[in-house]
Amino acid sequence: MVANRLGIGFIGSGFVTRFHLQAWLGVRDADVLGVYSPNPEHAAATAGLARELRVGNARAFNSIEEMIAAPEIDCLWLCGPNHLRLQNMQSICDALQSGKGKLIGVACEKPLARNVAEARRMVEMVEQSGLLHGYLEDQMFAPSVTRGKQILWGRAAALTGRPYLARAAEEHSGPHSPWFWQGELQGGGVLNDMMCHSIEVARFMLTKPGAPRSSIHPVKVSAQIASLKWSRPEYAKELQEKMGKEVDYRNKPAEDFARATINYLDEDNNPLIVEVTTSWSYVGAGLRLSLEVLGPEYSLSMNSLDSGLKLFLSRNVSGETGEDMVEKQNAEQGLMPVLGNEAAEYGYESQDRYFVQCFLAGKQPEESFYDGLEVTELLMTAYMSAEQERTIEFKPEGLDSFIPLVARGLWKGR
Ligand SMILES: NC(=O)c1ccc[n+]([C@@H]2O[C@H](COP(=O)([O-])OP(=O)(O)OC[C@H]3O[C@@H](n4cnc5c(N)ncnc54)[C@H](O)[C@@H]3O)[C@@H](O)[C@H]2O)c1
Repeated sequence: MVANRLGIGFIGSGFVTRFHLQAWLGVRDADVLGVYSPNPEHAAATAGLARELRVGNARAFNSIEEMIAAPEIDCLWLCGPNHLRLQNMQSICDALQSGKGKLIGVACEKPLARNVAEARRMVEMVEQSGLLHGYLEDQMFAPSVTRGKQILWGRAAALTGRPYLARAAEEHSGPHSPWFWQGELQGGGVLNDMMCHSIEVARFMLTKPGAPRSSIHPVKVSAQIASLKWSRPEYAKELQEKMGKEVDYRNKPAEDFARATINYLDEDNNPLIVEVTTSWSYVGAGLRLSLEVLGPEYSLSMNSLDSGLKLFLSRNVSGETGEDMVEKQNAEQGLMPVLGNEAAEYGYESQDRYFVQCFLAGKQPEESFYDGLEVTELLMTAYMSAEQERTIEFKPEGLDSFIPLVARGLWKGR
């Protein structure tokens, strides 16, 4: 035991930080005590939300250095935008090196970085810092995923053989902040933004409980990307009006659809297949996470929009647009699925509880920056495959310096 209770500081005060604060209602032994964002009003508002939720007596900080120097802060949750990831991590390392404060661990949101070179740099920095490190992949911690994995492996796979195919998808109608839509800032389009989830949750389901990540290994990747909706003139115009002039999908689109097949081999060289699909061009009730796992005598399926709670609202119920029923909600009328507790059901709650427990015990979490790096390697191989329109053996030459055309503003949408 290195501490009895942890003080947590958040870097970034956006959408995902608010999800973490909701999740914190189910986290023990740690309080949210700080928030840093370059916009002081946002930091103050998010710290206020933490106090209102009673998940910690949080205060706003003016810099990462100041937050690290505060004696009550033990760990950081890195939740800034992708293009500022390295800069944020560098600030953490500089503050620690100059002796301004002490930390136990850092947990970083997905994706670890925008490309392999940056992800390697994240790993180098965290190794030099000596901090414990976690890679925040909430879907691996979703109760339906962990419970499904437990039963599937414990009952079915134990008797009839391991699962051989996992299919995962994440789809919604598009992200909320302009930087997500800009390839150079975000690192790509929907492939980089959301396929990181699907790849990791599918890999998790196919890995025997307790076995190391290396027990199954990727051998080749084939992928495709497309701009199906948002580069159409009428939608490109709508997007620019909403997100600002920098988001110019007529001339500089990013993909709003991506699919990949990843071939793995298991411990005995048997083939395993991961199929993933992601899109920002799906209009349904809201965010749809789906997962299927197939084995010799069993199958599992999950769809986040098949919720147990549904509300029907007639045409006479008209009101403000919002996300009060489901994340990335597209309607406020008709038959709407509702998730009882989104932060818990998507996995944030169990995830944050897990990383707090590891940091409290002084133990390196199993899901770490190394996993974030491997996910980035697979994502970049998928972009290579899509650009070259062929299957690519993993790991391909040149992966460490590869930057997708989308992330260089050079992709033409087909
Ligand atoms: N796990 C998930 O399902 C999930 C969901 C959404 C976002 N994310 C990830 O979380 C991260 C943040 O996404 P978001 O949706 O909160 O974005 P957002 O655009 O809603 O918020 C970004 C926040 O970063 C802050 N920021 C700006 N400049 C900064 C800087 N220099 N240093 C630190 N913070 C800065 C902004 O003020 C804002 O509060 C991204 O990496 C994203 O990929 C993960």
